[in-house]
Amino acid sequence: MTKPADAAERIEALREAIHRHNYLYYAENRPEITDAEYDRLWKELRALEEAHPELITADSPTQSPSGRRQEAFAPVEHLTAMLSLDNAMSPDDLREFEARLRRAAPQAKLDFVCEPKIDGLGVALLYERGRFVRGATRGDGRIGEDVTQNLRTIKTIPATLRGPLENAKRFEVRGEVYMPRGAFAKLNARLEEAGEATFANPRNAAAGAVRQKDPAITATRPLEIFLYHVSILEPPLFDTHWERLHALEKSGFPVNPRSERYPDIEAVVAYGQRLEAERDQLDYEADGAVVKVNDLEQQRRLGATAHHPRWAIAFKFAARQATTTVKAIIINVGKTGALTPAAELEPVELSGVTVSNVSLHNEDEIHRKDVRVGDTVLIERAGDVIPYLVQVITSKRPPGAVSFRMPTHCPACGAPAERPEGEAIWRCTNVACPAQLKERLFHWGSRRAMDIEHLGESVIEQLVDREVVKDFGDLYELDAEQLAGLERLAAKSAKNLADAIQASKQRGLSRVLNGLGIRMVGERAAQLLAARFGNMDRLEQASQEELGEIPGIGPKIAESVHGFFQMDRNRKTIRHLREVGLDLSEQGVSHEPGPLTGKTVVLTGGLRTLSRDQAKDLILRAGGRVSGSVSKKTSYVVAGEDPGSKADDARRLGVALLDEDEFLKLVAGAR
Ligand code: IVH
Repeated sequence: MTKPADAAERIEALREAIHRHNYLYYAENRPEITDAEYDRLWKELRALEEAHPELITADSPTQSPSGRRQEAFAPVEHLTAMLSLDNAMSPDDLREFEARLRRAAPQAKLDFVCEPKIDGLGVALLYERGRFVRGATRGDGRIGEDVTQNLRTIKTIPATLRGPLENAKRFEVRGEVYMPRGAFAKLNARLEEAGEATFANPRNAAAGAVRQKDPAITATRPLEIFLYHVSILEPPLFDTHWERLHALEKSGFPVNPRSERYPDIEAVVAYGQRLEAERDQLDYEADGAVVKVNDLEQQRRLGATAHHPRWAIAFKFAARQATTTVKAIIINVGKTGALTPAAELEPVELSGVTVSNVSLHNEDEIHRKDVRVGDTVLIERAGDVIPYLVQVITSKRPPGAVSFRMPTHCPACGAPAERPEGEAIWRCTNVACPAQLKERLFHWGSRRAMDIEHLGESVIEQLVDREVVKDFGDLYELDAEQLAGLERLAAKSAKNLADAIQASKQRGLSRVLNGLGIRMVGERAAQLLAARFGNMDRLEQASQEELGEIPGIGPKIAESVHGFFQMDRNRKTIRHLREVGLDLSEQGVSHEPGPLTGKTVVLTGGLRTLSRDQAKDLILRAGGRVSGSVSKKTSYVVAGEDPGSKADDARRLGVALLDEDEFLKLVAGAR
């Protein structure tokens, strides 16, 4: 019998392995071990736990009904192989495709059907004597998995044939199961709330749902399908793919409404380019356009290779995902001392930009994704979204890669770091931390705070490292001569900077409050506070209750502001600002409600007559607030030219969309 200490260790290792393989299998749809190997792990764990019942814990997979990975689905041999598609990476590849077709059939009159290529899960649906009898995944193309019961839960798949296909003796149709983007976001939010593993992307979510062993779970997942290929039809009935698509539609099958027919390859190229430009507006992930020869007799003559039909090709969109390696995990120190981890990557090109780092957000996020130095990772950049790390490719992990540990000390100043209970963020505890000071000064000088032109990173670095500036007030005691002593700053620039610093003394209270970087006080809260109290003295004296009574300032902000003024260090900072002559009062704030009072506005796309900043100012002056993302609480989405997915979000959630003119009319009074 195994010694208890050894057994405990082995049990722990087995549990960890089983949890991991469950996750790979269900959440990521990419098992790394065979069912037999998985079975061995499971049997060994069971045996050890039976021998050492005292070591059984509630979190063991053996103690949970869903702890064991289900057996594989019954295999299905496809009646005709489910082939893949050849790829065209450029318009010229498409023209080459056409030239190949012409060489093979010089006399033929060609026309093409184009369809979005959906990034979902390919399936085949078989109907016999009008009834849906079997649904299978693609598998390796020859043998797939029988997922009939799960596919029956997708409401848009007809159980019986009607319309033009009603009398087909045998009929098989292929299509793509997918999860609409909006539904995917909601599902992940629900899983996260329940503390369950989330899906990396809609494709994995759809695949996971179709390959669930329990159809009742599949039924709760928001799956959709588009059908795009008739693989068997007895009797044949039609001469073209286009006719077949129409027949499918009339028989109740969902067919992609963006399917089009074109007489020449240039129109096909234009279709592909248009679809790519509009891909963010689609409610599904499309990774290309599929181009098919329309005539079925021509298709038959062209035939197929072992890999793909010769009569079809996929015009691929620019990749939005790429793999690269993690060179290092670094920690950035923010202006409030937050320690934010980021992965430094081997630079990689992704839809037109080079990505060399991605934020890892916080400690929990790193552990959830188990990111380690040396790992190969999948990164993604979709639409106007900043690049993010989707997942680690664990099978490529180099031996000896160690789990990441958050540092216990600030990497900039060495002071102890702490993670307050209930928060995800570690913070540096040193108020004088130079890294924090640099970030704070940078924010102080930024456009929407004190707007000090020329106060760039390099100047701030030097001022802080030389210990000339320890506080915002110190900036105002610098003269042009001192500044000229800094590296990479010519006399002329030093003079400009000195003037800009002095000019910023007149910005007024709301900008000072924004610049101070009080936690939870951004531009909007700063304006509310300045408007309510009119000057710094009155604000400093305000009680927490008084602060909390201001509409738009919740109890959390009130607590943060009050706490800020309780600290000696902060009061000293303000005294210093007063001494060097800053205007700490607010002129001409209107207490009248504006046209956007109580409203939240989201901006998307480019405006013709206004910069983003000007548009934001207008919203704030009209009494509204600006938000970066659309939710049910959003009042308006202002859509300029080339609006992104936010305009779609607005439509989906029923939020009012304004164009530039409507927006300008609305805020006219505030201009
Ligand atoms: S036609 C013989 N049309 O892309 C017919 N495939 O990379 C071959 N796909 O396995 C398929 N959208 O799962 C076709 N409109 C579409 C498609 C499509 C997505 C998938 C399908 C296929 C894979 C090939």
